[in-house]
Amino acid sequence: MWKASEVSDLKKRLLPMLGHTSGKRSAMTCALKCDNACAKGVCNTSDNNYFRDIVSAEFSRRNMLGVSGAGVVALMFGGGAAAANGRAAGLAPAAKKGFGHGNASKLKFAGIDGVRNTVDDVVVPKGYNWEPVIRWGDPLFHDSAEFDPENQTPESQAGQFGYNCDYLDIIEIRGSNGKRGVLFSNHEYTNENIMFPPDMDISQVRKTAMAAHGLSVVEVERKGKGQPWKYVRGAKLNRRFLMDTEYELTGPAAGSDLLKTKADPSGRVVLGTQNNCAGGTTPWGTILSGEENFNQYFKVSAPTDEQRRYGLTNANPSRGWHIEEPRFDTDAAEGKNEDNRFGWIVEVDPFDPKSTPRKHTALGRFKHEGANVTIAKSGHAVSYSGDDERFDYLYKFVSKDTYREGDKKHNMTLLTEGDLYVASFSGNSPANQIDGSGVLPSDGAFDGVGHWIQLTHNNKSLVPEMEIDQVLVYTRLAADKMGATKMDRPEDVEINPANGKIYVACTNNTNRTAAQADEPNPRANNRHGHIVEMTETGDQTSTQFTWKLLLVAGDPEVDESVYFNGYPADQVQPLSCPDNLAFDSAGNLWISTDGQPGTIQRNDALYRVTMEGPETGKVEQFMAVPIDAETCGPVIHDEDGLVFVAVQHPGEDGSWDQQRSLFPDYLPAGTPSGKGGLPRPAVIQMFKGKNGFVGR
Ligand code: FEO
Ligand code: CA
Ligand code: CA
Repeated sequence: MWKASEVSDLKKRLLPMLGHTSGKRSAMTCALKCDNACAKGVCNTSDNNYFRDIVSAEFSRRNMLGVSGAGVVALMFGGGAAAANGRAAGLAPAAKKGFGHGNASKLKFAGIDGVRNTVDDVVVPKGYNWEPVIRWGDPLFHDSAEFDPENQTPESQAGQFGYNCDYLDIIEIRGSNGKRGVLFSNHEYTNENIMFPPDMDISQVRKTAMAAHGLSVVEVERKGKGQPWKYVRGAKLNRRFLMDTEYELTGPAAGSDLLKTKADPSGRVVLGTQNNCAGGTTPWGTILSGEENFNQYFKVSAPTDEQRRYGLTNANPSRGWHIEEPRFDTDAAEGKNEDNRFGWIVEVDPFDPKSTPRKHTALGRFKHEGANVTIAKSGHAVSYSGDDERFDYLYKFVSKDTYREGDKKHNMTLLTEGDLYVASFSGNSPANQIDGSGVLPSDGAFDGVGHWIQLTHNNKSLVPEMEIDQVLVYTRLAADKMGATKMDRPEDVEINPANGKIYVACTNNTNRTAAQADEPNPRANNRHGHIVEMTETGDQTSTQFTWKLLLVAGDPEVDESVYFNGYPADQVQPLSCPDNLAFDSAGNLWISTDGQPGTIQRNDALYRVTMEGPETGKVEQFMAVPIDAETCGPVIHDEDGLVFVAVQHPGEDGSWDQQRSLFPDYLPAGTPSGKGGLPRPAVIQMFKGKNGFVGR
């Protein structure tokens, strides 16, 4: 049972954001996903790049347009063609703007129009269908308990797919002729308000929610190429990574005093991973996953400067993990340094169920959105990673050793030793033309040059007055000292396999003022975000690059600063808050969003951007996720006719007794939550026709 003090704690956490969600998220997302980061002061108070940090008081209200239930008809903006898994199929006439097909893409579709933020459905193009691959609570092992929403326990959850899937990949198993694959997903956080009955014992709530965090590896199978996947219960690669799973710390900071705890005097073995967001699949077939807003799980009564820079505050963590495990209470002897053991890039080998996952200190510690690796011409592995916080930085890591084709054992050492860099951007237009309005400067582009500031070399610090372990554990402070460029929440960073260029999704930053606008972050009160395209000079190990803004997001009908790589802005769908990026086999960019319900009153969505030819910059919407949900982990297997996303936090503004979403099972309206009338975050696949469609 929730105690009055616990209910009051949760309310206090929600209170700062009610009606003030920076034009982005619901109060519930802000509280549970990132601990109301936007309501708090900016973590980065360093004076590099500009000389003042003025917190904008300007927030915009999320448009709360009421609750939709099952059976609602998809409400579209305009008249784009769409099918919502059959239920809303054929409701709209053909696409209005003559959207064509992306550059040489194997996936042909007529772009859909935006979907209102009250619709509880998945909407896909006409002629397409969708179905879940795996849902929260699906049993992974032969002896796992069946999902029973009324009676979930830590033990049952530990054998089931976790909550709020985010990063996603599906990799075919070699030699299976396309019939067998392995699915990886992480589980960023939990929505206790809609997951559990209000009378459930609070300690059980905490422990069950803890078991719903972490990572999952699941085998999938199908009849053959071009067919949709089904997950295989009890397959030999299936694995859950829980809060008691051992992770090995690697790299120069492993064993540092900063990483030693009472339970682990070696400073080399951590239990669990938290708040994993985006990720990447390495060229050697392992998975990387980013530990993001880890700060919100730790109790601290008097945060140090270093802890403050990472967003730890003296507010009581409402998930209450510190009550169950004293290591999450940094005031307790068991909790000293435990917070330093989160905020890393995790590497997992999904093909070896007995392997020990690792946390790589050489890549630095911050709120890692994710990490993506490419092999430069020189053979070095280069990993790019954004630190998702307002005014934080973009990093890259260059391995000391080089890649060996086919030598997985060797390649799995590449992220343990190398050099860490942080990005500095310069614009080429006069400062008086960058006025915060987002209007293009007279040279017609937000663009310029940049360089990578080196923080470490050969296991040595290059940062004055900081030792190597301090640079890696307190990377944000090292980058502050070295004058990195403050970005508008750099999230996913992806390398386009077709041209080797780097793409950075900057989601938004409503705290940036006109005085703080610079050419790479040119808009004050940046509600809609932008995408930076970077071209390394030489290969990706270079310390020099050029850059331009590929896309300045928003609704072109109301915002003249919207820019889609020169494509006529009035001929594209509005897009806001780019978050995750992916490329298809033709090098077209796919963008998933996180925050459109609050900014342009549309459900979050997945878009394709044509990257070459006369239609360069054309943005077409492929799908929309249901009410309150975020489109995560896009995977584009266009040559296979399949697109996947992780649907995260559907219906999260609801409650156990009043759910807002019934995704993905859509049991009849009025079905009690305990009988399955509740939303279940799920990985879904989308494909043309009814091939393999299981229906609802
Ligand atoms: Fe978990 Fe940066 O989004
Ligand atoms: Ca310029
Ligand atoms: Ca994200």
